[in-house]
Amino acid sequence: MTEQLQPTSVALNRLVVVGLGLIGASAAKAARDRGLCRQVIGISRRDSTLEIALQQGVIDRAETSLESLGAELGHGDMVLIGVPTLTVAEVLADCSKWLSDQVTVTDVASVKGNVVEMARTIYGEIPPQLVPGHPIAGSEKSGVNAAQADLFVDHRVILTPTEQTGDDHLQRVSAFWRGVGASVTSMPVSRHDKILAATSHLPHLLAYALVDSLAAGGEHRDIFRFAAGGFRDFTRIAASDPVMWRDITVANREAILGVLDPVLEDFAALRSAVDRGDQQVLIETFTRARDARRYFEKLLENRSMNLSPARSETRYRLSPGGHGQATLRVPGDKSMSHRSVMLGSLAEGMTEVTGFLEGEDSLATLQAFRDMGVLIEGPDQGRLAIHGVGLHGLKAPIRPLYLGNSGTSMRLLCGLLAGQNFAVELTGDESLSKRPMARVANPLRQMGAVIETAEGGRPPLKIQGGKTLHAIDYDMPMASAQVKSCLLLAGLYADGTTTVREPAPTRDHTERMLHGFGYAVDSASGRASLSGGGVLKARRIDVPADISSAAFFMVAAAITPGSDILLKHVGVNPTRTGIIAILRLMGSDIDVHDQGEIGGEPIADIRIRYRPLVGIDIPQDQVPLAIDEFPVIFVAAACAAGRTRLTGAAELRVKESDRIQVMADGLQALGIAAQPTTDGMQIEGGQLSGGEVDSHGDHRIAMAFSIAALRANGEILIGNCNNVATSFPEFVDLAQVIGLAIRVEDMA
Ligand code: S3P
Repeated sequence: MTEQLQPTSVALNRLVVVGLGLIGASAAKAARDRGLCRQVIGISRRDSTLEIALQQGVIDRAETSLESLGAELGHGDMVLIGVPTLTVAEVLADCSKWLSDQVTVTDVASVKGNVVEMARTIYGEIPPQLVPGHPIAGSEKSGVNAAQADLFVDHRVILTPTEQTGDDHLQRVSAFWRGVGASVTSMPVSRHDKILAATSHLPHLLAYALVDSLAAGGEHRDIFRFAAGGFRDFTRIAASDPVMWRDITVANREAILGVLDPVLEDFAALRSAVDRGDQQVLIETFTRARDARRYFEKLLENRSMNLSPARSETRYRLSPGGHGQATLRVPGDKSMSHRSVMLGSLAEGMTEVTGFLEGEDSLATLQAFRDMGVLIEGPDQGRLAIHGVGLHGLKAPIRPLYLGNSGTSMRLLCGLLAGQNFAVELTGDESLSKRPMARVANPLRQMGAVIETAEGGRPPLKIQGGKTLHAIDYDMPMASAQVKSCLLLAGLYADGTTTVREPAPTRDHTERMLHGFGYAVDSASGRASLSGGGVLKARRIDVPADISSAAFFMVAAAITPGSDILLKHVGVNPTRTGIIAILRLMGSDIDVHDQGEIGGEPIADIRIRYRPLVGIDIPQDQVPLAIDEFPVIFVAAACAAGRTRLTGAAELRVKESDRIQVMADGLQALGIAAQPTTDGMQIEGGQLSGGEVDSHGDHRIAMAFSIAALRANGEILIGNCNNVATSFPEFVDLAQVIGLAIRVEDMA
């Protein structure tokens, strides 16, 4: 008697794999090994393949056609079509004849457009049971003998459901792929085919062409005999199955031509540069390509484009305690790093930067300028060489500029791009996509810019370009350096004198750096003005250590008995030193010495030693001067005797997360009485306990709760910590130097 699985809506009863090539056989073996279904049935035209599959434990049962099996299959069963792309139509025709509409049908072909079209032709319309899919897990090996049960582990499977696809079927296919260890993404058919044309089909074509061309030459034996690593790496995929790649190339003809033609043009340009011995073009091309390759590795591979396995979330696990003794130099200032790339790119001549922050936010700005044609060498241990293109030398990017998590990039770029003669779109990650942009879009519109936002004034931002900007005199409704900087950057392109007035002093790095680039800015208390039409002249920039990153270690020392931390070469611009003033008011022992100035920015070494803290009412005039430091200041307040009260800080609600709510929730989870208010928080100092908190993907919240472990009496778990890399990639290493026992756990 056969045992009948009681399928939940998405449970898998029988898996039928049609075509036992590398992918089909590996899917069958993985399902069988992992017990994902009751029975795995293989269908192949070749008896020998079926025999091997049975012998090697790839399948439970062999069949030669769907016809003999179709009537047995029903709800909960899934047919996976694993045949070459151009043969999928034949199998789909069999499916339409022999399967009930209850059976889920999916495929693994590398081109999705033609599968969907074939289905439409065969069925008359796309059937709800069809879930087109593509596991990105092939290799140059082929056939049932190459089957590997772990082929899909940590690989991506792209599903391209259509509007007709039934949810039940989609869930079943998705659960299957997750069950064999893959991560599943879904996207529209046409996007899939375009992306794959560029990332997979074109490289195969290039590899085949190179090997074929060299092999045809008279000296091919010698060439292959002496071929070194580069040739081997580049041509590995030319050993792939020719039938499969013929099919893919035919099926995705249009999208492949769409990427092949521009590459051929670039290749022709490179040929002519080689012919002319044009060193400049060669160095520019190679540098751009190298940097783009490194950038993809570092940043995009894991997150923005959803092409490769998703970067799994990380969690921090901290044991309580730590000694708080060290001499440290934290990484470069984030605000200045962004501005160094922006102004360096728009300057005339080459700007050399040292101390550049290699965090994801400033790298997003850097990539945006590369996307607009600026040649930037580095970063190499904080060094950049920016070949400025002048205020009018940027080129239209070919795709939207992706700015990750970085509000500073988006707001400042918005102003700068409003003055260009090309259109551009700015996008960001989930957190950035929720942040308010009307604060920059509205005044820019007053200047004559045409900017479209998504609902509620949120990203993405579409900037039309080609508009003449007119200077305005603008009273900012909130104290925001990003808004001020955005308008000053737009002012570089405007007729007349742009003036921005602020309700309270905010960081003035833009004004100082513009001045350093030889651009006249008239700054007085509460106001900054500049006139359009000037020139920026390249210069050297040394970015000091970021006081916002140093703040975590200042608070670490302030709350840890026996501590003594020296922070070297920190930027102490008076618009940023609220953290020092506030900690001092709470009783902290802070020494600021070896003060100096580099490139118009004050720097100093800061020494903090433990002294018991007391709760205070935080003076409102310090709020903009410590705006990014409140998450960790709240931790200091939790360790202080008595009550600390913050008011006038509603801006905290629209940072990378709602920092008032998220910090209050976290502190409460750690046993502290923290009361959020509309524009601040009230915290009663007490004993921090262990517990679990969620940083909501906010870098500064993850770091603030890590510091709390120094005074907690139990283990602290902090969720969603990946974004620490946006501003402070070395945080975990430096935290360990002060004795924090911090473990980074992958939440795959
Ligand atoms: C920044 C300004 C501040 C700050 C942000 C960086 C800048 O934002 O919070 O981290 O570099 O101009 P607001 O202008 O929104 O206050």
